[in-house]
Amino acid sequence: MSKEAAKNWRLVLGQQSLPLSEIRKASAMGPHFLVLDLEKQGHVGLRCEDEPERRGRIQWLGLKQFTAELLRRKADYERFEQYDQSSVQSYFQYYAKLSNQQNMLQDGVRTSTYNRAIVENPDDFAGKSAMDLGAGSGILSFFAVQAGAEKVYAVEASSMGEVVRLLADANAFLTKKIQVISRPVETITPSELDGKVDVLVSEPIGTFLFNERMIESYLCARDRFLKPGGKMFPNAGTLCVAPFSDSLLHWEQANKNGFWKNTNFYGIDLSAAVQRCTKEHFRQPIVDYINPECLVSKHIETRFDFMTISVESLQKIEIPFDFEISQPCLVHGLAGWFDAHFEGSNQTVILSTAPWCSGTHWYQIRFLLEVPLAVNAGQHVEGTLKMEANNLQSYYLSIFMRIKGTDRSRCCHVGFATESGVSHARGVGTASDFHDFTTA
Ligand SMILES: C[S@@+](CC[C@H](N)C(=O)[O-])C[C@H]1O[C@@H](n2cnc3c(N)ncnc32)[C@H](O)[C@@H]1O
Repeated sequence: MSKEAAKNWRLVLGQQSLPLSEIRKASAMGPHFLVLDLEKQGHVGLRCEDEPERRGRIQWLGLKQFTAELLRRKADYERFEQYDQSSVQSYFQYYAKLSNQQNMLQDGVRTSTYNRAIVENPDDFAGKSAMDLGAGSGILSFFAVQAGAEKVYAVEASSMGEVVRLLADANAFLTKKIQVISRPVETITPSELDGKVDVLVSEPIGTFLFNERMIESYLCARDRFLKPGGKMFPNAGTLCVAPFSDSLLHWEQANKNGFWKNTNFYGIDLSAAVQRCTKEHFRQPIVDYINPECLVSKHIETRFDFMTISVESLQKIEIPFDFEISQPCLVHGLAGWFDAHFEGSNQTVILSTAPWCSGTHWYQIRFLLEVPLAVNAGQHVEGTLKMEANNLQSYYLSIFMRIKGTDRSRCCHVGFATESGVSHARGVGTASDFHDFTTA
């Protein structure tokens, strides 16, 4: 196996180098023999030349380890099998509801920005083939046809695929151009398509960009179905973080433990559970709008280039930071948001969820410190934000912050997903919350 810088692993077989996405199956048939089922070549046997007697146990372990490593890396392309199955079920049940699709469609900032990004880049769509990964109600597939696409594969794993067909057949200009594939993209083989596509469109964005872990599916689709030199809409995402000060929010979180302070609840003293309750509240990120005046430093941006990053690189994400604090204040934690970039041949369009931009259903996010840090103007707060992927289609986060040049530091640990109550990211609002966004 070999790996180019910042790219996915590849399997080198003689003169050929294959992406691991092309391996359908790998079966060890004994100490020296491995059979691979490959996308284009079919079954290929790999024999280990060395006699185990001569090389002893080392060679046998070598092939075994190689097979295990190969299967582990290949699993990046079979994501849903690795996840907690109840998480996967509730995820697709959520997206199978029209009300939840409507919620996204009525986020006017989101939908109008995608519309502009696609229809104002006709050179990337006219006469081309496209894949819409996670088509939902089909809206991005329909925009692609409006931009001139000849054929669009609308890939949707939930039963919403039926709605894509329904709407495409009800709009004459779409009928023949849309092919619905009602399965997870990870289960589709290139032979089901008329070759690779010129352009991939998708809205794989969760809270703080990466929640839901759908961007990994977007990268799988890139590796399997995008022509070399093809385009991705969006082609990059930027995570933005800045320290904030918000005494009221901190006070509210710190006082959610009031119930457990009861020392006579039907004759029982509950107060022993207060500390646990407080910790539980501080482990939950706050997903809402942020007043930009709460930010106490210029934010930092980390760009993720969807055209080149590997699936593997999203398992652990580390963002080091060093902020210069603008005013004497209590730092209550770290605020976050993201931008999505559409760098098309005709136009560059940016979807920004920054606190100073019009609101979206992603809002912004804040990670709170249980004990704030008192900082003077001009001091620096340095540290790292670490995100680790979990099998709930989400991430665990930890933040370490220190006032530079001192030993005053803080840590916080946060979980998205079911643990934090931020369900599948889009569950935080309702359709009516977004009615006004187009006019806001
Ligand atoms: C955020 S929604 C976007 C829907 C639509 N593209 C839009 O912009 O309104 C993501 C959709 O992707 C689907 N999805 C998520 N992962 C998928 C996968 N691996 N394969 C196919 N569909 C997937 C979900 O069921 C959901 O409908």
